[in-house]
Formats: sequence, structure tokens, C-alpha cells
Amino acid sequence: MHTLVKPQVKKIILAPMEGVADELMRQLLTSLNSYDFCITEFVRIVDALLPKHVFQRMCPELDNGCRTQSGTPLRMQLLGQEPKWMAENAVRALEMGSHGIDINFGCPAKAVNKSKGGAVLLNEPEKIYQILASIRAAIGENAILSAKIRLGFNDASKLDEIVSAVVSANTNQLTIHARTKQDGYRPPAYWHFIAEVKKKYDIEIFANGEIWNKADADNCITQSQTSNLMLGRGALATPNLANVIKLSEAPMPWRELSSLLKYYSDLELQGDKSYYFSSRLKQWLRYLKLQYPQAETLFNAIKVLKNKDQILHQIDLIANT
Ligand SMILES: Cc1cc2nc3c(=O)[nH]c(=O)nc-3n(C[C@H](O)[C@H](O)[C@H](O)COP(=O)(O)O)c2cc1C
Repeated sequence: MHTLVKPQVKKIILAPMEGVADELMRQLLTSLNSYDFCITEFVRIVDALLPKHVFQRMCPELDNGCRTQSGTPLRMQLLGQEPKWMAENAVRALEMGSHGIDINFGCPAKAVNKSKGGAVLLNEPEKIYQILASIRAAIGENAILSAKIRLGFNDASKLDEIVSAVVSANTNQLTIHARTKQDGYRPPAYWHFIAEVKKKYDIEIFANGEIWNKADADNCITQSQTSNLMLGRGALATPNLANVIKLSEAPMPWRELSSLLKYYSDLELQGDKSYYFSSRLKQWLRYLKLQYPQAETLFNAIKVLKNKDQILHQIDLIANT
């Protein structure tokens, strides 16, 4: 008789999400969950060594040993196509305290792909190798280097070559977002492709894409044959998702979440970008409403409001529903 082996998660990373997972969201989510680490939004590298203030702006946690207030380490992500400049900027990020360097080969944005950065490089595994090898040569053997890819650009036919390039460049970890660039963010994610490369290559792999709850995480672990996960939009939609998966916590109830929305509002309003408060809150509610009907009610109630007191009042009104 077969005994069913329960899928076991090992590490969970909070995904880089440009314009969403900024330092305030990272602070909030890492205070609620035991993430192993977070990746910052990408820093775009073109043809120069960026001044330190750019790194500082993307990762204010550098002032705190590159950890969130609750102590979760952060790794800075770079996106670009010039091996020399990627290497120089990687050295700078590490010197400033980043816990390793992550390279983005998955960004589908047109502007980025047009200038040969992000997912378009999935068509050129040799270039991926050159970028990673140049960074490895500059940062030395001991620094952690990781890469984030999709299955491919149009299809997964080059996945093996891409992973081979990543591994040959002596990269320590690889996150695979189990969709192609053409798939965009459309479900499903094709986790089984990860199992194919996992069998063949000796590198620590993180599976990513379409994990919204514990059942998805279990399916992903089973299909990808990897017990390391990266959580993206699901981590915004259920704020304690990492602990739901890792520690079998129940998803946060609405009542608790409404206090969290107040806390988040306070953080946003205290921060130096408080003029973005209403748009940031609405942005988060767009994800929350995927899991909480009350978030949709709140979203509809504040969608035309800009005044902070009126918005805070609406949060109070809907808090106890
Ligand atoms: C708003 C948004 C911004 C993103 N920004 C980045 C980024 O800066 N770097 C990156 O490698 N991936 C980025 N991604 C992709 C996510 O890290 C992740 O791979 C993707 O959302 C799939 O995971 P999910 O289905 O769990 O959301 C972004 C995704 C979203 C939705």
C-alpha cells in the first residue's frame, strides 16, 4: 500500500514586485510571516555605475543591515543586459550590505524588453551566462548570486539551455516563475516543468507562480518536486500566506485584517511618500478583494476618495462587518 507523503515546505521568499512590495509592504508582511528572505524591486542598470543613493532609495533597509524591522534579510535585484555594468553594480550593492544579488530575467515590460533587459534575454541563454559569469567573477566565490527566470519567452523549449547557462555561471539559487513571457500572469502556472530541470541540475531551486493558498502550495511542491517557494500576488491577497503554508496558520480573518489596514495606512501616512497613500491603499485592496469580499466593499467605498480622513473613516465603518 502507498503511504501519501505530505508536501513539506522548506524556504519561502517574498517575491520582488515593482511598485507594490516596497519597504512599507515588506515591513508589514515580514512582521506577520516568517519569510526566509525578500527580494527588492528591480534596480535598472543601463550603462553606468549607479550612485549609492539609488540603491538606498530602492532599499532603505540598507540602513538597518539590509533587514526589515523584524529582521528578515533582503537581497537586491538588478535588471540589465551589459555584463560589465551589471557586475560593477552588483559589487556596489554587496558593499552597501545587500544579502546577495538577484538578477531579473523575467520582466515582461515592453520598455525593458525593447532595451534587451528582462524576459527577452530568455531567448539568449549565452547572454544570460555572460551576465551571470561576469557578476560572479566580480563578486567572488563566496557572495550569494541568484537568478529569476520564466520558463521561456514564447515557449519552454529553451528552458534546459537557460538553466544550464545559469548553473554554468556558478549561480547559487534559481527561482523559476512557471510561465512564459507570452503567458504573462494568466493562470495556470506550469509547475511540472520545474521538476524536469530539478532532476538534472544541482542548484537550489525556488518554484514561483499562482500560489494563492495552502492547497496551491502543496500542489506546487508536488508537481515541481521542490520544497522552496516564492510568493508573489498571493502574499498580498492573504497577508499571512507564508505562515499559512509554513506553520499551518488559518488565513487572517477580516477583523484582524481591517486593523492591519489601519496600521498600513499609518505607515503610509508617516512615510515620506504620504501623498501616494490613497493610491497605495487602493492598489493593495485590489489584491485583498481576491480573498476578502469586505475588501471589495471597502474598495468601492473609497475608490473616488482622496481625502485621508474620509478614507480612514470608511476603513472604520467596514472594519466590523
Ligand atoms: C506588480 C508586479 C510587479 C512585479 N515586479 C517584479 C520585479 O520587480 N522583479 C521580478 O523579478 N519580478 C517581478 N514581478 C513578478 C513576481 O515576482 C512573480 O514572479 C509573479 O508575480 C508570479 O508570482 P505570483 O503568481 O505568485 O504572483 C512582479 C509582479 C507583479 C504582479
